Amino acid sequence: MKWKTKITQILGIKYPLVMGAFGGWGKAEFASSFSKAGGLGIIAALNFPNPEDFRKDLQKMKELTDKPFGINLSLPHRSLKENGEDIETIKRYLDYVEIAINENCTIFTTSGYKASFVGTRVHESGGLWFHKCVLVKHAIAAEKAGADGITIVGLEGTGFKNPLTNTTLVNITMAKKLLKVPIIAAGGIGDSRGFLGALALGADAVCLGTALMVTKECPVPERIKEKWLNLDVFDEQFHKKIYTYNVKNFMAPSTAIGHHNEIIPIKTLIEKMIKKAENILLSWGFDNNEFNTVNT
Ligand SMILES: Cc1cc2nc3c(=O)[nH]c(=O)nc-3n(C[C@H](O)[C@H](O)[C@H](O)COP(=O)(O)O)c2cc1C
Repeated sequence: MKWKTKITQILGIKYPLVMGAFGGWGKAEFASSFSKAGGLGIIAALNFPNPEDFRKDLQKMKELTDKPFGINLSLPHRSLKENGEDIETIKRYLDYVEIAINENCTIFTTSGYKASFVGTRVHESGGLWFHKCVLVKHAIAAEKAGADGITIVGLEGTGFKNPLTNTTLVNITMAKKLLKVPIIAAGGIGDSRGFLGALALGADAVCLGTALMVTKECPVPERIKEKWLNLDVFDEQFHKKIYTYNVKNFMAPSTAIGHHNEIIPIKTLIEKMIKKAENILLSWGFDNNEFNTVNT
């Protein structure tokens, strides 16, 4: 089956799947496996305190794959003041952007607070700017600021949350009504039903975070992967950690982990997810060769 959405078209990827940004782990070897498997691999620039190491990683990425990939810049969760105390921080972010532009990167993702200073430079260079946020109202603001697409992370997801964070179901159905740009659903998605469900809610692609943490290529130590695979997602502590606003220790895996029980290569994970989604579509009577949401 051919998968066609606004995101597969804009990004030139085979499946509507985008890798999460991974502080600590999102580097060329991990990200290239995701790109090679048909999604959009993401290199997180801030994983390289030395910008020259970032340049080398981008060069390595281009050696490892000729498929599209993106750069992530995670911003602090507060506004950066463009005319004052934060000028050095902004310069630092723009230095990473410049390196990536010089390495012919064209897809940039930002997350956290306002990032239009990144978007402006990316657009000047002819690239695409996607922003990730947790509230629909921030998604609307990012669209107004010129973002070419928005990832919205629901309450089900891991990572930073806002006290007003909503569920993926609420986020995506509301965003579909209120935004014109393509939407990427993130938060708690770890299997083919979650994947198809998010597309049905109105997403043009799905972002996988936790689900990738237990793949072979993820550079997390094996013992941590095993520990995560054995988590009980229905445990009270687990529930509290995921569904309660928390600024500390917010990097617990999400319930997406509950869909996995072994460490497998990224390619296998994606192939299984897509194959099962295609079988579900067939069982629903959809026997078209093309899954196309571009005009809906
Ligand atoms: C270990 C880990 C590190 C992460 N680091 C970042 C980060 O640096 N920046 C960011 O925007 N999101 C980060 N995230 C969040 C993911 O990019 C993604 O939004 C989230 O995992 C989606 O929810 P899910 O885990 O339920 O799939 C991280 C997630 C994990 C599991």
